[in-house]
Amino acid sequence: MSHRVAVLAGDGVGPEVVAEARRAVDALGLGIDWTELPWGSAWYHEHGRMMPEDWEEQLSGFRAVLLGAIGDPSVPDHVSLWGSILELRQRLDLWANLRPCRLLPGIPGPLAGREPDDVDILFVRENTEGEYAGVGGRAHRGLPGEVGVEVSVFTRAGCERVLRLAFECAAQRRGLHLLTSATKSNASRYGYVLWDEVASELAAEFPTVRYERVLVDALAARMVRSPDSLDVVVASNLFADILTDLGAAIQGGMGMAASANIAPDRPGSIGVFEPVHGSAPDIAGQGIANPSGAIWSAVLMLEHLGEPDAAAMLLEALESTCREGPRTRDAGGTASTREVGDAVVASLTA
Ligand code: NAI
Ligand code: MG
Repeated sequence: MSHRVAVLAGDGVGPEVVAEARRAVDALGLGIDWTELPWGSAWYHEHGRMMPEDWEEQLSGFRAVLLGAIGDPSVPDHVSLWGSILELRQRLDLWANLRPCRLLPGIPGPLAGREPDDVDILFVRENTEGEYAGVGGRAHRGLPGEVGVEVSVFTRAGCERVLRLAFECAAQRRGLHLLTSATKSNASRYGYVLWDEVASELAAEFPTVRYERVLVDALAARMVRSPDSLDVVVASNLFADILTDLGAAIQGGMGMAASANIAPDRPGSIGVFEPVHGSAPDIAGQGIANPSGAIWSAVLMLEHLGEPDAAAMLLEALESTCREGPRTRDAGGTASTREVGDAVVASLTA
């Protein structure tokens, strides 16, 4: 059975890395039916919006979107992000963002004395509310008393579904059976206190999982000092956004990290799969971006499409390419984006 997948390659290095992910998936011979969506910053300049008004309708026949990155210096970032990826996550209610953070053998990590086995964390990010709920406003524009208000929104239902998923991941994942919840309930007295309360209630339902709550600032330090002490980390929208860039750094750089935006309570619904990195305007157009995060995101997409064997094969091909090379320069090599993609395809067809 073939799968219908929409490709939103987007801006900057997005199209460069997505092309390699797509080629690798094609090499698996699953007969994926790809549809390219020309949305993003160029679309914005032509149409005044990042995506067409009927985007939801246009996506209705798809099980997955493979997304590159969106953002361009010619469009304010809050406009490009709210008009695309944040709109997709909220309107499609893709409330969970899974971000595996592993240092793959062969990739140089920045932490002294740390081996690949020491960095293997699954981040579960709340993806629709918290600090990125989109609630707030501006008043008295341009005056000395100007204000900007950004309200964090935590609902019991929103906390519960993502925390429950994180407990389930910690129960199933090989490893420490440890769930670390990032919080800031010392300084923030409402939203994170609710988050903590829901987590403690759920902990009783998962006796095989060791649950701990850690203040997010201390957790950032712990990721650097002892990443091997972490297994599954669950965090709010903003906290996980920050922690997973740090995570990307300890797994060898922004180009390595992958993510899946999904709604696990609605099996069969659409998912959006994208590398953690942005459009990287500083290196766009040079053919040197690392496609690993995009290829890994395609692995997560194949799992979502119910193709676990193909997903495992693609991950193995990515791992073998990281181990044997070639690698892009951010990962200590000299190869181009395309050469890394070629190696992944060669490994799949060997
Ligand atoms: P960025 O992730 O694009 O770049 C940060 C640094 O990582 C840069 O030095 C870049 O060269 C490097 N980098 C990123 N991807 C790489 C890759 N595949 N290979 C090698 N190096 C890579 O983040 P930045 O600069 O903060 O944002 C740039 C634009 O991307 C902005 O417009 C931002 O809003 C947007 N953005 C979009 C996201 C999305 O579409 N989901 C996520 C994050 C940022
Ligand atoms: Mg981010």
